[in-house]
Amino acid sequence: MTNPFRFVGPVAPASLIDRREELDLLARAVATGVTVRLAGPRRFGKTSVIDAHLARMAATGHRVARVDLSRVSTVTDVCVRLVRAYQPFGGAARGALARIAQRLGVTIGAAGIAVTLSPARTEPPSDEQARYLLAEVLDLPATLDDGDRTVVALDEFQDVLTADRDLDGLLRSVIQHHGDRVSYLFAGSAPTMMRALFEDRERPFYGQARPIAIGRLPAEETARDIDATLRRHELDGGDATAQIVALGAGHPQRTMLLAHHLFELLDVGNGEGDAGALAARSLDLALHDTADAHATVWDQLDRPERAVAFALADGLPPTSHAVAERSRMPRSTLADALGRLTREGQHVEVGDHGPAIVDPLLEIWLRRRNEVSA
Ligand SMILES: Nc1ncnc2c1ncn2[C@@H]1O[C@H](COP(=O)(O)OP(=O)(O)O)[C@@H](O)[C@H]1O
Ligand SMILES: [Mg+2]
Repeated sequence: MTNPFRFVGPVAPASLIDRREELDLLARAVATGVTVRLAGPRRFGKTSVIDAHLARMAATGHRVARVDLSRVSTVTDVCVRLVRAYQPFGGAARGALARIAQRLGVTIGAAGIAVTLSPARTEPPSDEQARYLLAEVLDLPATLDDGDRTVVALDEFQDVLTADRDLDGLLRSVIQHHGDRVSYLFAGSAPTMMRALFEDRERPFYGQARPIAIGRLPAEETARDIDATLRRHELDGGDATAQIVALGAGHPQRTMLLAHHLFELLDVGNGEGDAGALAARSLDLALHDTADAHATVWDQLDRPERAVAFALADGLPPTSHAVAERSRMPRSTLADALGRLTREGQHVEVGDHGPAIVDPLLEIWLRRRNEVSA
């Protein structure tokens, strides 16, 4: 049986757990002409929410596009991503896109979606040419005056700053004239960079988009949805479902990874034993999958940040005397490290109960550091 619990890439709108409130806010923003930005840690489901939102907008007659800006490193990359995203517009857009693509040195595939670097091309566009083409392709949705409104989502928006430190200025200067013909939605997973783009008075997008947070999933509904999916496959998670949901701590991708393994264990008939044992086996498999990723995070932390991470995983106040003593570091050093980690927002976030580790599996991995792995 194919495992219904996907943990890589966006989930299909029909498989989305909850997010009703976020989707309503997004729909209202389009209706009222408000620009919004989706903020949340990596793998919390921003792209999944965008896809569900765009599907809804398309169903109400809007033209939609999701521009994936992840890992763009040049202005030409940004152009290519836009050309690819606007390709399905067809009609009047087709000619303009083909011309821009040709000047970029890319070929649009027969299906109209694939964009590949054209081998015949000798010289890539200069930076100035690329910026000119970018302005042109950015403007495209506003030039389609067939009465339909276009909804554009710019995903992993913070990466435009990798391509060019001032590219937000060019983007703003073009799209500010689009009025309500085009609605823009920005999403990003690097909180510090997104804040820099939208909350720094010096930057062109300062105060230009209302933030909507993509947070953790509600436990009860998540467990209910996972149970329903299991039952559709004639499997019964019993109490193990609630237990893996608790282990996932509302982290969408980690919860799906745990559910994936629970499904696997039940499906091959390894679901014997009590619920606790089943949940524990699912957890071990998920930890096995993610161990390399945790080790990479660990490698990137400096000594005080590691002390803070350990303290958080162990449930100790990270800047307490006890932690200062056991890590042999001044409390001010620990406070600085905690400040850096929360500001960066990738691994530590400030929740209702103070600072916490974002990824529940990383937290368990840290807590289990003294255990001998089998
Ligand atoms: N609302 C949700 N319901 C179910 N699974 C989700 C949800 N949001 C995220 N996920 C899980 O997280 C993974 C990553 O989602 P994605 O949308 O790519 O996150 P992001 O864009 O924030 O990095 C998905 O493959 C899925 O396993
Ligand atoms: Mg994404």
